[in-house]
Amino acid sequence: MPPTLNPTDLSSLRPRLDEVGQGHVLAFWDQLSELQRAALAEQIRSIDLGGLTRLIDEHVRAKPGAGAAGPAADIRPAPFFSRDGRGYDRAAMAAKGAELIRAGKVAAFTVAGGQGSRLGYDGPKGCFVAGAITGKPLFAFLAEWILAAQRRHCTGGAVIPWYIMTSPINHAATVDFFRKHAFFGLREHDVMFFQQGVMPSLEMGTGRMLLNQKGEIALNPDGHGGSLRALKASGALDDLESRGVEHLSYTQIDNPLVRVIDPLFIGLHAFGPGSSGQMSSKMVPKAHAGEKVGVFCTVNGRTSVIEYSDLPAELSAAKNPDGSLKFLAGSIAVHVIGVKFIRSLTSGAGAGGGALPWHRAEKKVPFVDLKTGQRVEPSSNNAVKLEAFVFDAIPLAESSIVLETDRIEEFAPIKNASAPGVADSPDTCTVIQTHRAARWLEGAGCRIPYNAAGEPDCVIELSPLRACEAGDLKTGETPKAIPAGARVAM
Ligand code: UD1
Repeated sequence: MPPTLNPTDLSSLRPRLDEVGQGHVLAFWDQLSELQRAALAEQIRSIDLGGLTRLIDEHVRAKPGAGAAGPAADIRPAPFFSRDGRGYDRAAMAAKGAELIRAGKVAAFTVAGGQGSRLGYDGPKGCFVAGAITGKPLFAFLAEWILAAQRRHCTGGAVIPWYIMTSPINHAATVDFFRKHAFFGLREHDVMFFQQGVMPSLEMGTGRMLLNQKGEIALNPDGHGGSLRALKASGALDDLESRGVEHLSYTQIDNPLVRVIDPLFIGLHAFGPGSSGQMSSKMVPKAHAGEKVGVFCTVNGRTSVIEYSDLPAELSAAKNPDGSLKFLAGSIAVHVIGVKFIRSLTSGAGAGGGALPWHRAEKKVPFVDLKTGQRVEPSSNNAVKLEAFVFDAIPLAESSIVLETDRIEEFAPIKNASAPGVADSPDTCTVIQTHRAARWLEGAGCRIPYNAAGEPDCVIELSPLRACEAGDLKTGETPKAIPAGARVAM
């Protein structure tokens, strides 16, 4: 929709901007066209200037120290359900989860509004290639999982709707990509896109809003924590309720091995001992103390995630008497969230409006120099972005459970560009995909070639349509052996 043409109405805007120290955003007003003025005025009106000023005082001019936990918090390792099924009945939980899926009470939810700047990729991250052999994008891996889960569990005709959160930066490109790929075999009607909110990018030190163009304030997505608010604001929450969906299976877009719909996890979330059915999480044991993953802790008795950058170094490095890491439970950013819980968090104002605490991130943000009018690409961090994290909703649940899982089975994120020694890259993702496929194929009687270092001497890419778990390879045609050096997609 074109912006409302109301460019001359600066009478109330200018004094208000001056009052909160943001008058500079009108510095180039005289050089703007009518349309640009209208768009800028519209942008300014959409910003809660009073609220923003408070946030700038708290997060930009001051630098909060100990992150979400606060300096005096009692921080302990969070308990979790171990992979081996101690303390719960895996088969029974998986059956209960499968029943919820079969009844159409589970939807998939992917957060895909991020900027992918670390990867150095310009488009929506979901369009990035994750299939080393087929060239298949991340979105396709997730879509194929949903299709496979639907075929397996929804024999009575229910579907697994898929909600995808985009941001204004990548919304149109994401929707176009799905159209171009015919929704990867899913029904268009069952794939819902909605956009998350944005926040102004703020100049470090001063907290002034940066201009992206002379007539445009620089904005950044408000973090995946904005998803709760956006689910409500976009009508997606109403849609979920009208479809009878009770639980959202939440995943990020960066991990092609993610079990998008996992009956065991869903069952444990909804019916597991000690679970409120409000918000549950999966973890993998951290690879080493410094791994860049959030860590499950209890903070003053409540299950929480402390982001790696906020966990005090002495706690990340703390060891048990047997030498293992004390704070072992690394977050793979996979959750199941109850729809009723989201409704309760987003009803009312303040924290009840779905607002989670803000976190500060220092980034490079291009801006228009107010003196020269030239656009500058900064070479070091010049801006503070404010983002909310969805895992800050965990301590708001009455109780929250964590399930351990195996890294090779379900965690191979693509976050960084490939380079020697760099983790979470397209190259490391391909290696982990091959390891998992090799493990599953060996379980089905297939011989895998190994090199002298004990690594599979091949590349194997497995579609979720062929197998979502090891047992799936025991049916259908499975090769007896993979030749050394082979590149196989199945
Ligand atoms: C994230 C988690 C970390 C976890 C790790 C596991 C955060 C802050 N940290 O780290 O605890 O251990 O994943 O892989 O999330 N996104 C949006 N909108 C936004 C920002 C992000 O949709 O405004 C989405 C991205 O598209 C992506 C996901 O959120 O799917 C993760 O965001 P990112 O900022 O890359 O988090 P990580 O640092 O990778």
